[in-house]
Amino acid sequence: MSTVITGASGHLGRLTVDQLLAAGTPPEQIVATGRDTSKLGDLAQNGVVVRRADFADPGTLDDAFAGADTLLLVSTTTVGERFDNARNAIDAARRAGVSRIVYTSILNASAAQMTLADAHRRTEEYLRASGAPFVILRNGWYLENYTDQLPMITQYHALLGSAHDGRVSAAGRRDLAAAAAAVLTQDGHLAATYELGGTPFTLAELAATFSEVLGTHIDYLDMPVADYTATLTGAGLPPEMAAAVADADAGLARGELFTDSDDLVKLIGRPATTAREAVRNAADAEESR
Ligand SMILES: NC(=O)c1ccc[n+]([C@@H]2O[C@H](COP(=O)([O-])OP(=O)(O)OC[C@H]3O[C@@H](n4cnc5c(N)ncnc54)[C@H](OP(=O)(O)O)[C@@H]3O)[C@@H](O)[C@H]2O)c1
Repeated sequence: MSTVITGASGHLGRLTVDQLLAAGTPPEQIVATGRDTSKLGDLAQNGVVVRRADFADPGTLDDAFAGADTLLLVSTTTVGERFDNARNAIDAARRAGVSRIVYTSILNASAAQMTLADAHRRTEEYLRASGAPFVILRNGWYLENYTDQLPMITQYHALLGSAHDGRVSAAGRRDLAAAAAAVLTQDGHLAATYELGGTPFTLAELAATFSEVLGTHIDYLDMPVADYTATLTGAGLPPEMAAAVADADAGLARGELFTDSDDLVKLIGRPATTAREAVRNAADAEESR
C-alpha cells in the first residue's frame, strides 16, 4: 500500500506529504516525486520513498508509479503543457495498475471559460473516460496568490486586478493539502468531484483587509485586462503567465472562482483559513524577516 505524490518538490505536493506524515502515515508508504530529487532529500532522510518523475518522460513515470496503490496527481505549472503532462501521468498510472487517481483541478472546471481552466477540463474528461477509479479536487484560487504580493502591496499601497466586484472563494494551500490528505487516507470518495473554496471576498474587500491588518490605507485598483496584463509583464512576469493571471481575473469577475460549496470545511473538519488570518500570518512572517 503506497501513495505516490507528484509535484512533491512544489508547495502543494510538499504540504500534502507533510500532512500525510502528521496524520500518521508511515513514511515508507509515501512516494514523493519530482523532476529533481535533490529537492526531496530531507524527506528521503525521514524515510519517505523518493523517486524521479518527469511527466514529459513517461519512462520515469513507470518507475515512479510502480507498486503504487493511490496517486495524487498535482497539475503542473506550464500552462501549455499541462494537459499532455496529465495525460502521460494518467496513462502511466493505468499501466502501473494504480487503484485510485486523485487529481488537483480548478474550481468550476466544467463551466469556467478562463484559459487556465481549459487543460483542467480536458484532464478531467480524460480521467473520467480512462476507466480508472478517480477523485477530483477542484482547488480554489490560492490565498497565497494575494499574500505573496505583500511587499509590493505595502510599497505601492495598492492591490491591482481586473476582477471588478467579482467574489473569489480563495483558500490557503495548507487547507487544500489537508483536504487532499483526507481523501488519500480515507476510504470512499470514489468518483467524487469536490469544489474546494474558502470564505469568498471581493478584491476591494481584500484591500480593506490589508488596510486593517497593516494599519495603512491600501486601495484596490481595478483596471482593464489589457492594462493589467501590461502591468504584470512590466513587473517581470513572463508574457504567457501575465496573460493567464489577468485572464483569470476576468474569470473571477464572471464568478468562475466563486463557490458556496462547503466541501473544503467538510473534508478538513474545521473552518478554512480566512483572508484576514492569511494576511495577518503573511504580515507577521514579513516582520520577523
Ligand atoms: N489554485 C491556484 O491558485 C493555483 C495557482 C498556481 C498554480 N496552481 C496549480 O496548482 C499546482 C500546484 O501548485 P503549487 O503551488 O504546488 O505549484 P508549484 O510550487 O509551482 O509546484 C509545481 C510542481 O509541479 C512540478 N512539475 C512541473 N512540471 C513538471 C513535469 N514536467 N513533471 C513533473 N513534475 C513537474 C514541479 O516540479 P519541479 O520542482 O521539478 O519544478 C513542482 O513540484 C500548480 O502546478 C498549478 O497547476 C494553482
